Amino acid sequence: MLKVENLISIHELSVEDIKLIFKTTADLKEKQKKGEEFLPLKGKTLAMIFEKPSTRTRVSFEVGMFQLGGHALYLNANDIQLRRGETIGDTAKTLSRYVDAIVIRTFDHNNVIDLAFQADVPVINALSDLLHPCQALADIYTLFEHRGQLQGLKIAYIGDGNNVAHSLMYGAAKVGIDISLACPKGYYPNQYITEKAMEDAKHSKSKIVITEDPYEAVKNADVIYTDVWASMGQEKEAADRKKIFMPYQVNKKLVDASKKDVLIMHCLPAHRGEEITDEVIDGPNSVVFDEAENRLHVQKSLLYLLITASEQKKKK
Ligand code: CP
Ligand code: NVA
Repeated sequence: MLKVENLISIHELSVEDIKLIFKTTADLKEKQKKGEEFLPLKGKTLAMIFEKPSTRTRVSFEVGMFQLGGHALYLNANDIQLRRGETIGDTAKTLSRYVDAIVIRTFDHNNVIDLAFQADVPVINALSDLLHPCQALADIYTLFEHRGQLQGLKIAYIGDGNNVAHSLMYGAAKVGIDISLACPKGYYPNQYITEKAMEDAKHSKSKIVITEDPYEAVKNADVIYTDVWASMGQEKEAADRKKIFMPYQVNKKLVDASKKDVLIMHCLPAHRGEEITDEVIDGPNSVVFDEAENRLHVQKSLLYLLITASEQKKKK
């Protein structure tokens, strides 16, 4: 059973939790591929609150819940009373009377914490300005599928020290993957997150390096990972960021400076021609759509593990 009741941050997961999530992911993925019906969440409902747009997260959670026998409700934050000032706490308590789990995509990370604190059902962070744990779990699972092991591999994250970078750093540090992040000055990952990840890295004996030099980061890397230069909510900064981040573009020249079989990852959506070129994202080393697919399988594993554990707890 998972030791956590919610998925807010990978930092809160134990290594055993991650192993269980991945093992369950593999089982569920195999069942799905074989067309085997598995409906453990029959009669269960998931509420999905979205304050920001989404393609992958929204669809994979909704499809995942359906495939497990349950039902998902998409709640655009603008259409519910949250928008008109109802508190997160009252929303959490009300939804807990109807549904069996809540997914939230929000700006302020404190909203996720607040919701999880006040809800009586599991809460899953579907991206905040600070973290994107479902993404990083799917990314690391994808890496495991392609390489058969994790310990000792190296990820080079190139670009903005954002939510995706934070969760990837947390995930890598937990499972023993080295990670080098190359970011422009002023766009380094959050100091607190970096320190927490470094504590985990000590335990797993992995290395975290933060540099301004993308060529240093990609040296001997098994994965080159990038994300948009302007995240959702930073649209006004996009033009300035484009100039600052140009030397961090993942293009053929940068990829050629890494290992020959380096995997190319991107959480998507991509701004082609900005943080990554067409040639690279569509090239033979790219596994971006494997990552996107694995969002479904990993999140099904999370839904299954969190909802069944919460049901068992209630019965006690
Ligand atoms: N990677 C990801 O979370 O994509 P969406 O914004 O489309 O959900
Ligand atoms: N960093 C991006 C990730 C999108 C999945 C954002 O927050 O917009």
